[in-house]
Amino acid sequence: MPALWATPAAAVELAWQHWAAAATQPGHPCRLAALATSAADRPAVRTVVLRQCDPVERELTCYSDARSDKIAQLTGNPLAELMAYDAPLQLQLRAFGSASLITDEQTRSRAWAALSERQRADYSRATQGAASDQVAEHFRMISLRVERLDILHLGPFRQVRVRAIWQNQGWQAEEILP
Ligand SMILES: Cc1cc2nc3c(=O)[nH]c(=O)nc-3n(C[C@H](O)[C@H](O)[C@H](O)COP(=O)(O)O)c2cc1C
Repeated sequence: MPALWATPAAAVELAWQHWAAAATQPGHPCRLAALATSAADRPAVRTVVLRQCDPVERELTCYSDARSDKIAQLTGNPLAELMAYDAPLQLQLRAFGSASLITDEQTRSRAWAALSERQRADYSRATQGAASDQVAEHFRMISLRVERLDILHLGPFRQVRVRAIWQNQGWQAEEILP
């Protein structure tokens, strides 16, 4: 497999294109990502579906249930990392940053309207009196504002790893080892 990028800056561009494609294509290899958070006494990681990507705002969004542990963990410590692996491309993407819950009602309503009946039922379960066309009280949108990217390609001859840090309104990217 040829190198996936020519320069560290191109790796950053490719990473965001990849996240953006994953957020819109259900079968995309990076559609399922691991979300790592910190509990009081341990790390915690679980699978989530990547739902939205905004490269300009550096935001990756997933949905969850207010009753899940990750919401309490992020409230206590918003630092989080999303990791996805594209096996066919042998490309690992890690995005680290600070997570927050989206509170804008219009944004939440739009996201809710785009969910299937079955997905809505999950968030409505045990919600008294919540009709499926209302934004259920348990539905949460977690938005990760990315501050650091780690992009690793297992190339044919060697691994290539790029670290990018958001600084001075731009991505400062460099190749690193290992
Ligand atoms: C394929 C797959 C996709 C999942 N997608 C999500 C998701 O988008 N959001 C979510 O909150 N949990 C999702 N889950 C469930 C989580 O992995 C996890 O079990 C659950 O959210 C509880 O985690 P927590 O107690 O650490 O918060 C998914 C699980 C699997 C196996």
